[in-house]
Amino acid sequence: MRKEADAVTIRLAEAGDAQAIAEMSRDYIESGLGWRYGPAHIARALRRRETVVLAASARPTYVAGNRPPLAGFAIMDFGDERAHLVLLAVRPVQRRRGIGRRLVEWLMESALTAGMASVHLELRADNAAARRFYRALGFSETVLVPRYYEGREAAMRMLRVLRAPGPLPLAWRPPVLGRK
Ligand SMILES: CC(C)(COP(=O)(O)OP(=O)(O)OC[C@H]1O[C@@H](n2cnc3c(N)ncnc32)[C@H](O)[C@@H]1OP(=O)(O)O)[C@@H](O)C(=O)NCCC(=O)NCCS
Repeated sequence: MRKEADAVTIRLAEAGDAQAIAEMSRDYIESGLGWRYGPAHIARALRRRETVVLAASARPTYVAGNRPPLAGFAIMDFGDERAHLVLLAVRPVQRRRGIGRRLVEWLMESALTAGMASVHLELRADNAAARRFYRALGFSETVLVPRYYEGREAAMRMLRVLRAPGPLPLAWRPPVLGRK
């Protein structure tokens, strides 16, 4: 199992990934809601300096032929000291192989290095699997927001604190995550 996850590499997404990312958002995150994160929206996110878009895909050496289909993707917005995990999905056949964890860990390292104090997200409250996933990665559930999605579906907000909020001391160095 772990070997298959190792065959997947995490990289910055490119303009050519926008359509595939948008379709994964439509099918695996927004299903039953309107398609908010369409290709144009993703293309804008890819151009924004404050946004990181990651793609998980098979290493080129494993692929005969064209660009391999994406195994997963993640999008994070960076504010002054708060980061927002906007979207995250892994293709169903690739789940439970550690790909989601690797995407989030990559973003957490970036958030720490960028001096973020906390990472925030919201997800559909009935998405029990993703809530368990985020809890396994150190996020806490903070508040249930009724009718958050299209005025009808509840969201759960989740948070992971990285450091105390406020200005960084001059001698501050980001802590190393995940190595105990
Ligand atoms: C949530 C999601 C991204 C997780 O991706 P993944 O690659 O399967 O997750 P990982 O394999 O890295 O899982 C890491 C840990 O999270 C927990 N976890 C993940 N999926 C879980 C599930 N379905 N049930 C319970 N725990 C789960 C486990 O502790 C897992 O570790 P383990 O496999 O060693 O037990 C994936 O299920 C997904 O794409 N879901 C649909 C889209 C979505 O809900 N996105 C989040 C809201 S935007």
